[in-house]
Amino acid sequence: MKFSSLFFAGLAAAQTPAPYTDVKSGITFNTLVDNASGYFFGLALPVETTGTDFIATIGGKGTGWSGVSLGGAMLNKLLIVAWPNSQTIVSSFRKTAKYGSPAVATGTFTLSPIANGTYVNSTHWTYTFLCSNCIQTDGTTFTANDDLPSLGWALNSAAPSQKTNAASAVAKHTTEGTYQIDLTKARSANFNTWKTWAAPKLSAVAFDA
Ligand code: HEM
Repeated sequence: MKFSSLFFAGLAAAQTPAPYTDVKSGITFNTLVDNASGYFFGLALPVETTGTDFIATIGGKGTGWSGVSLGGAMLNKLLIVAWPNSQTIVSSFRKTAKYGSPAVATGTFTLSPIANGTYVNSTHWTYTFLCSNCIQTDGTTFTANDDLPSLGWALNSAAPSQKTNAASAVAKHTTEGTYQIDLTKARSANFNTWKTWAAPKLSAVAFDA
């Protein structure tokens, strides 16, 4: 089974997010996919007014890391990085004021995994989570009023040096960029149901699926 033919079936080319429904969780995300690398990041939001929370999926293929900037740029924005460790996913919030491996970031934001959307299979790995208090008002993320915010994406196909450690340094991305995402296409009436699937809040620092 080829990653591109099934998983990416029906999706638009890279840099243009399009709706994608995860086959296991059934959650629909407005999703950026980079076919060349296998990177993807998708967002789901409630139909009503956006609060501070969203559901997201991030993944890739192979053993490298995938990252998202919730504010578009790398510097001084809230970042999330994730990578597979055997059959589990390791993830953390990061932030940095200078170019280099970003330090772990702590705050009121938390990641709560959604188990049926978090897996490693023969074609790709994916980490689906409720991001609580992740939409901030301090300029580090997109805001609840943005309909077309810029997000940043970055990946390196090489595994981090300490892949069991969520605080591990990562090597500089081999591919990175920013893109606009239409949040009106991320909204779903099922959001509140999907939200109930998230595991109890875990540490803001790390989670092993
Ligand atoms: C050792 C680790 C890292 C280094 C040395 C690094 C360095 C850089 C540099 C120098 C740029 C400017 C473009 C370029 O010259 O290539 C950049 C852009 C970018 N980086 Fe990183 N980076 C690292 C890790 C990360 C991580 C973990 C993320 C996770 C989200 C990330 C996200 C981005 C994004 C989204 C951009 C494009 C937007 C922008 O230029 O601000 N980077 N990075």
